[in-house]
Amino acid sequence: MAKYIVENSGPLRGEVIISGSKNAVLPILAASILAGDACEISDVPNLLDVDVMCKLLRSLGASVEEDYENEIVNVDTKDITTWEAPRDLVTRMRASILVMGPILARQGKVKVSLPGGCSIGLRPIDLHLKGFQSMGAEIEKGPDYVVARADKLKGAKVYLDFPSVGATENIMMAATLAEGVTVIENAAEEPEIVDLANFLNKMGAKVKGAGTNMIRIEGVPALKGTRHAVIPDRIEAGTFMVAAAITRGDLLLKNVVPDHVKSISAKLMECGAVVEDNEDGLRVRGDVNPLIATDIRTLPYPGFPTDMQSQFMALLTTVEGTSMVVETVFENRYMHIGELNRMGADIKIDGRSAVIVGQRPLMGAPVIATDLRAGAALVLAGFRAEGETEISEIYHIERGYSSFEKKLISIGAKIRRVED
Ligand code: EPZ
Repeated sequence: MAKYIVENSGPLRGEVIISGSKNAVLPILAASILAGDACEISDVPNLLDVDVMCKLLRSLGASVEEDYENEIVNVDTKDITTWEAPRDLVTRMRASILVMGPILARQGKVKVSLPGGCSIGLRPIDLHLKGFQSMGAEIEKGPDYVVARADKLKGAKVYLDFPSVGATENIMMAATLAEGVTVIENAAEEPEIVDLANFLNKMGAKVKGAGTNMIRIEGVPALKGTRHAVIPDRIEAGTFMVAAAITRGDLLLKNVVPDHVKSISAKLMECGAVVEDNEDGLRVRGDVNPLIATDIRTLPYPGFPTDMQSQFMALLTTVEGTSMVVETVFENRYMHIGELNRMGADIKIDGRSAVIVGQRPLMGAPVIATDLRAGAALVLAGFRAEGETEISEIYHIERGYSSFEKKLISIGAKIRRVED
């Protein structure tokens, strides 16, 4: 198994080009099933998760060409015949559940294994299934799989008890080919939802209101292929923004949509970092003022993103003062705290809250990446720690950050990948 060896790196300085968004490209690839035609997706990040989604599409009968050199994936879904997503691929990646809506809408039935929970929580799919049922689908639950059947989905009004990103995406995709109008209330408002809606509309769908908490989809008889460039990854951007702050460095990030990282910029500036959006890109400086404590509450977009909670917590262990973090989106997204404390941090958990006492000296230690963003947080902490930090289970990190160590080394980070 591969590991990262991270050393104290001093201030990181230079330019980083942010890649396309993992959480936009995965639903967009799933949505290509609806077209039964050829689509060209560009600005695709070279990620393990993208490769798994491409394998999944191939297993359904699609032809998929991955050209990561040019960040392009060409997918033609005209020959998709099967309606069953292969178990091994679905259990490997939770986002596979996003093929459920498209297959159901196109084939009239779909069978998927229940995606495993993961270290950050149970992650049920009840809201996805509630949406399909509202549209007339019959749901049959097996021990570790679910089947949905509907000769023709009907437009319906669906209220989401929680603004689930995946449920909003799955229902929105299924509704594009339904008979009549579907309205999703209390919908997720993430930029990735807007990007998916733009892609669907380019295929001929009629989706209105993406990016607000009410999305209206008028069903159409068929969709056709199109070309689409994926939006930049706001969480990769946020991770490098925090890298500038935690190392007291000065980074210029290119290919960032400032609006998508507003909450991260706001919290970094509350800590005393300087964030400037200029024509060259987004500049983040941690070397201007002494950095101080702040409080974070994770919320659905446009609130502070749960996917940035662990990285920001690593920063808070290094600032002056005591901070409070409240994780409201996932029930178990504090697995990184034990690892940060092994490095000398002083973080206590009280239910959904964590209290971080800043400026405890961090010492390098052997630690484990428990999920994608926790792994990124440990890398960031390693840049500040005295001595070497050895991070194992880094496949989590490589699922979601393309060329992570290469980009970090290019701005002065001391990180190397070793095979165990
Ligand atoms: C998406 O996951 C992202 N993944 C996650 O990013 C992100 O953390 C999450 O949205 C929240 O922003 C992708 O887009 C591929 P949810 P998703 O449905 O759709 C509960 C990363 O690091 N819920 O919004 O699975 C659920 O348990 C990953 O890139 C239900 O109860 O998230 C959780 O507590 C991690 N029932 C909350 O909603 C449901 O049917 C948010 O989940 C669905 C969700």
